[in-house]
Amino acid sequence: MASFIVIEGIDGCGKGTQARLLYEHLKELGKDVVLTAEPTKGPLGKLIREHLQDPFLDDGALALLFAADRIEHLDKVVRPALEAGKIVISDRYVYSSIAYQGQRVDLDWVSEINKYSDRPTIAILLDITVQLAQRRMKERGDEMEYFEVDNDLQEGVRKAFIELSRGRHLPDSLKTKWFVVDASERKVEIADKIRDAVESVL
Ligand code: TYD
Repeated sequence: MASFIVIEGIDGCGKGTQARLLYEHLKELGKDVVLTAEPTKGPLGKLIREHLQDPFLDDGALALLFAADRIEHLDKVVRPALEAGKIVISDRYVYSSIAYQGQRVDLDWVSEINKYSDRPTIAILLDITVQLAQRRMKERGDEMEYFEVDNDLQEGVRKAFIELSRGRHLPDSLKTKWFVVDASERKVEIADKIRDAVESVL
């Protein structure tokens, strides 16, 4: 059955790894799965990444770019896969725009420019303290980008995600079933919890 699973969380929470583990697990079960991410690898996603490495855009313009990249993503990747009956796993989605861009530009406006985003089947929040996430990124030797160097922003984003997982600050069209997973646990334990959450809705 077509399902749209999104994984969210602050920078360094381990979304990328967990999205891949979930993808591999579902593949092993014989499911038809697509693993994708925002920002995308398309032209708008590339522009966003350039900004994140060496900032040149106003925060409002950046919010519009994330929203535009998402429209392209839905149109070219997510909807065709769902229409073909596949399971789509997205590493970040519209909730990232609300949580991150909402720190710097008007929250209602961010919701407005994203209002044609489709409702996912479930959203998984990998919750972790900013301190631990920062430590993990440093251990991995990640090059720190735009939002990653700003601890206060990350604290705000973490709080915003928790609020979103409780259904607050969201238009009705974006309310969905949330699972909050403690991302400070071991990788395999987190993966198990995500599998249980996903299997409960598939
Ligand atoms: P990230 O998931 O870290 O991509 P990658 O793992 O490929 O570097 O996303 C890059 C940054 O973009 C991250 O700091 C979160 C931010 N972001 C937003 O601010 N708004 C959005 O809508 C999205 C999708 C990401």
